[in-house]
Amino acid sequence: TTGMFTFDPGYGSTANCKSEISFVDGKKGELVYYGHPIEELVEKYKFVDVIKLLIGNGYIFPTKEESDQFERELVRRSYIHEGLRKIIDAFPDGAHPMANLSSSVSALSTFYYDHIDMEYEAEYQTMARRIIAKTPTLAAFAYRSSVGSPFVYPDADRGYVENFLYMLRAYPHGKLKEEISPIEVSALDTIFMLHADHGQNASTATVRNVASTGVHPYAALSAGLSALWGKAHGGANESVMDQLEMIGDVKNVDRYIAKAKDKNDSFRLMGFGHRVYKSYDPRARILRKLKDDLDQKGVKMNQRLVEIAEKIEEVATQDEYFLSRSLYPNVDFYSGIILTALKIPKSMFTPIFAIGRMPGWCGQVLELLQEPNVKITRPRQMYVGK
Ligand code: SDX
Repeated sequence: TTGMFTFDPGYGSTANCKSEISFVDGKKGELVYYGHPIEELVEKYKFVDVIKLLIGNGYIFPTKEESDQFERELVRRSYIHEGLRKIIDAFPDGAHPMANLSSSVSALSTFYYDHIDMEYEAEYQTMARRIIAKTPTLAAFAYRSSVGSPFVYPDADRGYVENFLYMLRAYPHGKLKEEISPIEVSALDTIFMLHADHGQNASTATVRNVASTGVHPYAALSAGLSALWGKAHGGANESVMDQLEMIGDVKNVDRYIAKAKDKNDSFRLMGFGHRVYKSYDPRARILRKLKDDLDQKGVKMNQRLVEIAEKIEEVATQDEYFLSRSLYPNVDFYSGIILTALKIPKSMFTPIFAIGRMPGWCGQVLELLQEPNVKITRPRQMYVGK
């Protein structure tokens, strides 16, 4: 009770929920999935191993054979029902791929109206494996529909990450202008892994909130996609690129830093600041190194934008306004520069975040639904009315 108003106690499984899946140490700038530091996972594993880790209660494949088998099964399940393809095909040209993706994930529940019984672990695993297998296809189809290009179906002989790049890039007759390189696949694999889970961020909390009502899990995942799209959240990677293009030249950086500090100006540095990290986002650190590694391996970055981004980081991380508010680069600050160098269209940056985050969302739904008695979420409010 504060003064004359009584605090409405929050109920439900997600208000201050408990989770084993990931921990974000905002002070130290550390991120772990099931106790594994993100740096170790990036170094030693592939994204498909992290998928299994997140939906398999922390299970790590003991052998490469088991990991490869799991990957083949995912790609085998990456095809979608022709009826769903027709729905995606009907979306208007020019629609944002995130609008197409969130709508098609919701529509997926009409094709798989599994009765997800709260008791059966096997059903959750099927639900999770299916949506994780199909999300790259839905994302690639969402893009091709947005640009009016015929769809390119999955190629079951390719790996999980390579298959996505194939569906995004191939000509309608299925041929590629140039083969997809292992360097590109490895870079995108790392990007997916870095986005896989991140505690109770806005979209994950949305997924858990919606799932706590007992709705079909795919409807909850569709709600998560809508929350992720916002430029304060997963949409920031696309906004960072818009901002770097708008700044245009390294000599304009000081002017925009001043705008970001001006309280009368709504301008904010996109890709900077974080609700939890009051230190350098460890994912941004990995991406900054990946940018340099790729450039050395011949995946050419847009040097003009790299210089602007690095100048922003150099100036802002020595500026009292940003230091006093613990504002540092976050996961979105360098990801767009790398994705552009991988020839991925800007409108696909947030769908790529979504492909990475899908296993985390599924793991969070599984964790929620396995609670002994799932309570519907009821966030707190302080009544300030009359
Ligand atoms: C993601 O939660 C997650 O885990 C999210 C995510 C994930 O993996 O799921 O990590 C992914 O969403 C990363 C964040 C991507 N968004 C952006 O990069 C958008 C730009 N950043 C901001 O809009 C902002 O930093 C937020 C939204 C991320 C956080 O906003 P808050 O909670 O309002 O920030 P804050 O409370 O820490 O702000 C403290 C101060 C305020 O100024 P004062 O009122 O104290 O004077 O810092 C200022 C803010 O105005 N501030 C900024 C700023 N971010 C905060 N000033 C200029 N530029 C910025 N980017």
